[in-house]
Amino acid sequence: MTDAQSHRRREGLFDLEPDLLPLFQYNCRQFSSPEDCLSSPEFLDHIRKVMLVIDAAVTNVEDLSSLEEYLASLGRKHRAVGVKLSSFSTVGESLLYMLEKCLGPAFTPAMRAAWRQLYGAVVQAMSRGWDGE
Ligand code: HEM
Repeated sequence: MTDAQSHRRREGLFDLEPDLLPLFQYNCRQFSSPEDCLSSPEFLDHIRKVMLVIDAAVTNVEDLSSLEEYLASLGRKHRAVGVKLSSFSTVGESLLYMLEKCLGPAFTPAMRAAWRQLYGAVVQAMSRGWDGE
């Protein structure tokens, strides 16, 4: 891949996993395109919800077990709306992509590794909602 191509590479959520689009439905309305979804207030609210969970994980990083019950029930809710466990990795990749885009060279490999670890711990706790599958 040339530099110019890699510059154009897109790693947003729906580029990585287009099948996630139909899972976001509000008032039974299906989005007609990723752009339609990305500009909807409900989807932006969901992004805020994701970031609040990440924020809670950062705040409780020394004792993530205090969030365990909450995260397991959050996992169960996602399973109920048809989210596959593997899709959480896609969200993780787009989170890292966003951090890289925003922070540029300030986003060091050590920071990337730390974020990966934190997000991985959140997903692991949420995955308890899929236990018994
Ligand atoms: C894998 C892709 C995901 C999909 C398709 C998805 C989809 C949904 C849907 C359809 C809802 C219900 C409607 C809404 O509140 O917007 C929801 C709620 C929520 N999601 Fe997600 N979600 C995903 C990933 C995540 C992740 C990674 C987190 C946090 C780390 C998260 C946190 C939340 C929270 C906090 C709620 C509100 C739950 C409540 O109302 O009690 N979601 N999600």
